[in-house]
Amino acid sequence: MKDKLNILNNKIAEAKLGGGEDRIAKQHKKGKLTARERVHFLMDEGSFEEIGMLVTHRCTDFGMENQKFYGDGVITGYGTVDGRMVYVFAQDFTVFGGSLSETHAEKICKIMDLALQNGAPLIGLNDSGGARIQEGVQSLGGYADIFYRNTIASGVIPQISAVMGPCAGGAVYSPAITDFTVMVENTSYMFVTGPNVVKTVTNEEVTAEELGGASAHSVKSGVTHLTAAHDMDCIQKLKQLLSYMPQNCEEEPPQLEYEVTDETRDVLASIIPDNANQPYDMREVINGLIDENSFMEIHKDFAENIVVGFSRIGGRSVGIVANQPYYLAGVLDVNSSRKGARFVRFCDCFNIPLLVLVDVPGFLPGTDQEWNGIIVNGAKLLYAFSEATVPRVTVITRKAYGGAYDVMNSKHIGADLNYAWPTAEIAVMGAKGAAEIIFRNEIKKADDPAEKLKEKEAEYADKFAHPYRAAGRGFIDEIIEPQHTRTKLIKAFKMLENKVAKLPKKKHGNLPL
Ligand code: HXC
Repeated sequence: MKDKLNILNNKIAEAKLGGGEDRIAKQHKKGKLTARERVHFLMDEGSFEEIGMLVTHRCTDFGMENQKFYGDGVITGYGTVDGRMVYVFAQDFTVFGGSLSETHAEKICKIMDLALQNGAPLIGLNDSGGARIQEGVQSLGGYADIFYRNTIASGVIPQISAVMGPCAGGAVYSPAITDFTVMVENTSYMFVTGPNVVKTVTNEEVTAEELGGASAHSVKSGVTHLTAAHDMDCIQKLKQLLSYMPQNCEEEPPQLEYEVTDETRDVLASIIPDNANQPYDMREVINGLIDENSFMEIHKDFAENIVVGFSRIGGRSVGIVANQPYYLAGVLDVNSSRKGARFVRFCDCFNIPLLVLVDVPGFLPGTDQEWNGIIVNGAKLLYAFSEATVPRVTVITRKAYGGAYDVMNSKHIGADLNYAWPTAEIAVMGAKGAAEIIFRNEIKKADDPAEKLKEKEAEYADKFAHPYRAAGRGFIDEIIEPQHTRTKLIKAFKMLENKVAKLPKKKHGNLPL
């Protein structure tokens, strides 16, 4: 028995060393943790159970039969994060650069199947040179097996990808299908084709970091939802993300204990400037509404004219979608519509109620927007809100103009409660633009056209630049004083906690992609 135990223990010790001490040192030198260290820091102490530690590849080409490492470049298993079950895979760059072989893919698929069958989140820690070059189509097949499972599990269990090293070629499509991607700054990159291919095909000179680093994907493409300063920061962000989510689509998100006291927030009363064209930071409104320090902003640096993120209100997880007057006046454009729609759909998949804060002057005009499909992209946000069956509450803080009024979770597309502050202006368009169009002739003929325009602008504003017409129609349920908004929201989300709303039976809708 002792000999047999020794054999086992030697194999485990070898497996734990991955590609060996030299390669581990190289990994550390790059400022990266090893796969095993990442799993260790992610999971609750002692909770991780590894599956498939002794798996090896089956390749016999290029002398590969003589190069075998236990685990085959990926650590897979399950355990708990803050006491809740999660399934995890972590690619081990010290073994063949974390490249994906047939067996490496099989290990990942095994825990994906377990995660789906048992209804718990899947976390993927990606750090890989891509397809195992010594293998062939087996590796490509392995990727497709993973993509297929990512797709089938979408909307059933939360799936989160951390990109903590290279992630190139077709490999990028697994993170792309998952719900959230976190990239580590300076040590990770994602691209379909790398700088060399780019140079050959388009003659562009670009570094890996410029092409697909965390900054490129957080600011320009929106491919990554979050960035992290280093591996430990990334792990912390994964934990925080998980804290807002339920385990699967059948469950409710975790609720923290909260005792309601005086929820008045005077600070909210002084945020909206007297001049309706002056910007303000919607994050100040958000901070006045949510439980202290509970906001986790998603896609912070992408399409900044809309702010989305998770928070808690009265201990309850809430997804926030808010126009940002501070950036492009909070206008809706192609990217902000896409960003908002994706977030709304995640919240709706996983029973996270939505709070929508509205201060929107409309859709961004121009050839750039029209030719890049503002029509179909704006429709995404409209569709996402319309289809969402989770509790939905809207607060109009200032402008709600034109089609953007409809899109931003209006009563007409199924919102449950719609509030407005007394500063709200709900109209087809701003008073000046409206007066210029409908009183054009009158203004032209006037002795003093500028004075006439002012007069007509004031007349239009008097009629429409307020929330009372909408309230008179019941499109707004209540006009509330800003400082009481948090109290209203706590009560509203409590009232809506048992909401049941079903969509008509269908295979699936046809979201305008
Ligand atoms: C097998 C690989 C590998 C791969 C790296 N290695 N990538 N082994 N298959 N794809 C091995 C290296 O041989 C080396 O082994 C070790 O991993 C570390 O690699 P280094 O090159 O020393 O590391 P580094 O300098 O940090 O460079 C990392 C890298 C580079 C930029 C990722 O390794 C690289 O360019 N790799 C190839 C990338 C690639 O072309 N992949 C295929 C893409 S096509 P030793 O023994 O020396 O430690 C693809 C299709 C997917 O992925 C399609 C899905 C649908």
